[in-house]
Amino acid sequence: MKGIILAGGTATRLFPLTATTSKQLLPIYDRQMIFYPLNVLIKAGIKNILIIVAPEHSGQFINLLGSIFEKAGIHLEFKVQKVPKGLAEAFVLGESFIGDDNVAMALGDNIFEDDLGEKIKRFERGGLVFAKKVSDPERFGVVEFDENDNVISIEEKPKKAKSNYALTGIYVYDKRVIKIAKNLSPSCRGEVEITDVNKRFMKMGELKVEKIRGAWLDAGTYDSLLEASNVVKKKELYKKFDPIVDLAIMEFNSELKKIAKKRLN
Ligand code: G1P
Repeated sequence: MKGIILAGGTATRLFPLTATTSKQLLPIYDRQMIFYPLNVLIKAGIKNILIIVAPEHSGQFINLLGSIFEKAGIHLEFKVQKVPKGLAEAFVLGESFIGDDNVAMALGDNIFEDDLGEKIKRFERGGLVFAKKVSDPERFGVVEFDENDNVISIEEKPKKAKSNYALTGIYVYDKRVIKIAKNLSPSCRGEVEITDVNKRFMKMGELKVEKIRGAWLDAGTYDSLLEASNVVKKKELYKKFDPIVDLAIMEFNSELKKIAKKRLN
């Protein structure tokens, strides 16, 4: 399975924080936000990950992540997204990267308490989405499902939600997603919607849902950014990273310290 992290966009809701860097490079407690989706994919055993970034931030992503996972056999690629055209564009930009494999796509600003690795690993065919029970489903993609966890309806930010389950920012598909994404028309907000991809798999009877029990945060506003750090600290989520991620960060820190020492001498 391949992995994609969508970390493009301009995140205007977080100005001025995102005037100088990418939202996904802002800190969540003791590490940059991007390490959270990376951790989800690495825990799922994924070794090839494509990170989609905005042109103005590509250098910053490479400075941070360019070589730190090499020793662990995890290969990162970067692709610039000139203009963000919607979440489903990830599969169009990632066409040659995905090839004939399955793909797990993670939004760069979603933080999960649950370990989703095993569930992603078990995926075989069709589509798999992850849903969390919320009190304000109208703010999200809303999913309804039967007793076997087959998705029976899916709506993007409906006025009146049919269930309390919001779609979170992890999506797993087989390679048919490329063709589906390429044939989508933009929605009324001018974007190719991940919800339309999901509807296609649902109509084929091949979209499953997994429920998330622990905390789920998207760090897209000042409040949710602060809350994410507080939840990570309170629940000690920074202690639950895959050892590969922890080791990479530790080695990166010691490199930085060496460079800083040289500068002082
Ligand atoms: C997107 C998806 C939505 C999903 C949400 C999760 O919304 O379109 O279905 O519930 O991510 O973060 P957006 O953040 O683009 O409004």
